Amino acid sequence: MTGAGMSQESGVPTFRDAQSGLWARYRPEELATPEAFRRNPDRVFGWYLMRWAMVSQTEPHAGHRALAKMERLFDSLSVVTQNVDGLHRRAGSSRVIELHGSLGSFRCSSDGHLFDDADLPVPGGESWEEWGPVAPPSCWCGSPVRPGVVWFGEVLPVGALTEAQRAVAEAEVVLVVGTSGVVYPAAQLPYLALSRGIPVIEINPEPTPLSEDANWRWPRAAGPALAELLEYLED
Ligand code: OAD
Repeated sequence: MTGAGMSQESGVPTFRDAQSGLWARYRPEELATPEAFRRNPDRVFGWYLMRWAMVSQTEPHAGHRALAKMERLFDSLSVVTQNVDGLHRRAGSSRVIELHGSLGSFRCSSDGHLFDDADLPVPGGESWEEWGPVAPPSCWCGSPVRPGVVWFGEVLPVGALTEAQRAVAEAEVVLVVGTSGVVYPAAQLPYLALSRGIPVIEINPEPTPLSEDANWRWPRAAGPALAELLEYLED
């Protein structure tokens, strides 16, 4: 199970790190809620397009690749991620459950019709200041197209949550990598494992609310930790 810290070494900002986290620079209630999109669709849409463009310029790191290679060693390895950057799939992981949607998928805010990002306006610019607001295109039904991510106050995609719960409940071991463990229901998943006696290993340079309950805590960055774990498993 992974969170934003998993992608930090690829250059994707986390949310809650004090200096570089997105929520240190932007207000989630202005950008990551259905109300914010209704109030100011251009600002919200532009911000997500900017994030998608930036993420598209990043590459998976050794930790993403190590997790993908671990599929060769286990009958079934699922990656349950809160990340919306698509880096696990790009690294080659084949069973990726995206709990919070994806920056690269857009859909009609009324009827859910899916849109390819090729159909979307792509202005240039390296920073939010250069990008600015972008009017969302309209679906054939007239409603604005919205980012395919889960916002605060929204329910998770039902299929993804059920699949994640099943993967955790059937696991032999659960690795929790790079998440602060404060956003529910994702944060509940390690506790589902613990309640069933399934060992939970946390990889995170900083302590989290899970740290005291996890069976083992490895205070390291995701890249070197997962690469080393793969090396150990292959020996
Ligand atoms: P956070 O930003 O809350 O937490 C990132 C975690 O990664 C922290 O615990 C860091 O210590 C850790 N970390 C930082 N660098 C790391 C590295 N190189 N290797 C390993 N760990 C590292 O991100 P999430 O827990 O993913 O939701 O946040 C959960 C949700 O809150 C996100 O999915 C997003 C956000 O609001 C939505 O957008 C719906």
